[in-house]
Amino acid sequence: MDPSSPVTIEDHGERWVVRLNRPERRNALGRAVVQGLLDAADQAQRSRSLRAIILSGAGEHAFCAGADLKERQTLSPDEVRVFVGQMNAAFRAIETSPKVWIAAIHGAVLGGGLELSLCADLRVAQTNAIIGLPEVRLGILPGAGGTQRLPRLIGIARAKELILTGMRFSAADALRLGVVNRVADDHEAAAHALADEVCRGAPISLTQAKRAVDLGYDLDLEAGLAWERACYEMIIPTKDRLEGLAAFAEKRTPVYIGE
Ligand code: COA
Repeated sequence: MDPSSPVTIEDHGERWVVRLNRPERRNALGRAVVQGLLDAADQAQRSRSLRAIILSGAGEHAFCAGADLKERQTLSPDEVRVFVGQMNAAFRAIETSPKVWIAAIHGAVLGGGLELSLCADLRVAQTNAIIGLPEVRLGILPGAGGTQRLPRLIGIARAKELILTGMRFSAADALRLGVVNRVADDHEAAAHALADEVCRGAPISLTQAKRAVDLGYDLDLEAGLAWERACYEMIIPTKDRLEGLAAFAEKRTPVYIGE
């Protein structure tokens, strides 16, 4: 892969690192970066052995400083509409990906950068990350899912406080509020440690467990339990389910093949 691509993929077999790679613009989300994210999500979907993806940002200053405000200035209102649609498509592709995405966030995590991380399944923040949704201070609103995903993640009252004030907050606050799962000085190492745990799971189990949670969340309990059974049903015929049982009986580590 071209190391100057706006989004790079480091392939480690069962795990990839997908990296926003516009550090000179603090990895802001312009058209090329958004297209790169869409391509990465598409490639990920087609890999059978892949289980976990760490989504990170190049450079020491920012995971992502949000929308590319310089590019935005050059776009007409119609072009802005098209771009926001593409950004939402890319974000949704990550959110609905059959793989487990872990956002490893550091430095500035602002606006669309935070919204992007909310599409991941898990978030690990560097101790000194500065996080926020400043959109209302810029005359817009969080338009890449922030007004919808943040309340679902941390509750309406907390989300409104962050969205309506546009305040920047620390990694420690993010942990306390439930925005991130873990905080560490070395956020990528911590994300890899989390990926180690995820990669112990069988690929189809991970995919179906993610679907069970995500699509069941907005259902009432009865419908949610029926949905969970439907997801379980997808696992019953798999070789990996039998391998899990055999490995347990033989007191060895299972070797999953994603079938
Ligand atoms: N879009 C486009 N370019 C951006 C950008 C963005 N969102 N954020 C930063 N950049 C550019 C800067 O313009 C600067 O370019 P220059 O070197 O040509 O002047 C370069 O990235 C470095 O930015 P700088 O502010 O010097 O870096 P920093 O490390 O001191 O601060 C931020 C980083 C992210 C805290 C600061 O740039 C910032 O507040 N950016 C705006 C973030 C924002 O409000 N995003 C929400 C969008 S909805």
